[in-house]
Amino acid sequence: MKILVTGGAGYIGSHMTRMLIARGYEAVVLDSMEYGHKESLPAEAPLVVGNVADETVVKKLFSDHHIDGVMHFAGYLQVEESVRFPIKYMKNNVIGPVTLLQCMREAGVKPIIFSSTAAVYGNPLTVPISEDHRKQPVSPYGLSKWAFEELLRVYDRSYGIKSIALRYFNAAGASLDGLHGESHTPETHLISLACQAALGLRAHFSIFGTDYETPDGSALRDYIHIEDLCDAHIKVLEALISGHPSDVYNVGTGTGTSVREVVAEITRAAGHAFPVTEAGRRAGDPPILVADPAKIMKEFGWKPAHSDIGSIVTSAMKWHTSHPKGYA
Ligand code: UFG
Repeated sequence: MKILVTGGAGYIGSHMTRMLIARGYEAVVLDSMEYGHKESLPAEAPLVVGNVADETVVKKLFSDHHIDGVMHFAGYLQVEESVRFPIKYMKNNVIGPVTLLQCMREAGVKPIIFSSTAAVYGNPLTVPISEDHRKQPVSPYGLSKWAFEELLRVYDRSYGIKSIALRYFNAAGASLDGLHGESHTPETHLISLACQAALGLRAHFSIFGTDYETPDGSALRDYIHIEDLCDAHIKVLEALISGHPSDVYNVGTGTGTSVREVVAEITRAAGHAFPVTEAGRRAGDPPILVADPAKIMKEFGWKPAHSDIGSIVTSAMKWHTSHPKGYA
């Protein structure tokens, strides 16, 4: 089976590509390389440099390769940037990938796994959050992912494209062999920033918000190791290829970890304290985002194996220690 991985040179996409190869699939990567890293890709996966919105490139890709399914990761992901530049996010995350769907249609490729997000829920009314919770995104980023989920539903009803959207909570951690990990420019994610501060690569780490209604006042998130996240993709891909209907699933652990707890875990992993300051809340951050992952667990027997915060932080620290400049 040959899988097209869009955004396959990014943090999650490249981990997915390496896992596909390791599990006996063939993979072709389509990545604009605006944010991707060539070094993160296995030699077995050819890289096509281009955008999912570029009809010529995508058409050629489908005619050059016999593609059995698509995993769509390509997209912008900075919530705060999306608030400043909503049109950029709508164009890149919603309008552009319609070309991908059209080319799938023309090539007769039906299955697509879509990288969605907990941001489609907005500020949750109840936690843990199940898939049928109200969808009310509070950022253009969340809206762009929700809009593409809706597009997928229309493409199923109208053209028989079969999709599973996975709503990720907080993807984190590095490959277990320590060779690949998170390398964003700019970096905005908690675990990478705090690991870098602990290693002296940043002057300090700031906790955004200490007055939330949570046990220790800092925000709660549901951290999921990329290894477990990618394993969920393989399980749903196999089901979709075998005829499972289109659907959506949360991917998280069901456990909330506070920012302060993450800092404590990183202190433990580093073996020493590091400068931590307390700052105001970051605009648009919900106080608590914790998944109810019962649906994916029940249907697919998926179970996180590396997503306790200790394992996530240990893998991230190993990567940041050996790659102080990321892939740069
Ligand atoms: N945080 C800090 N200090 C920092 C960075 C982050 O305290 O320097 C806090 C944030 O305020 C938040 C928590 O750490 O409470 C996690 O923040 P991240 O930026 O690591 O992750 P987010 O929860 O903001 O974002 C993630 C994904 C997004 C997705 C979003 C859903 O990265 O793609 O969850 O809300 F949209």
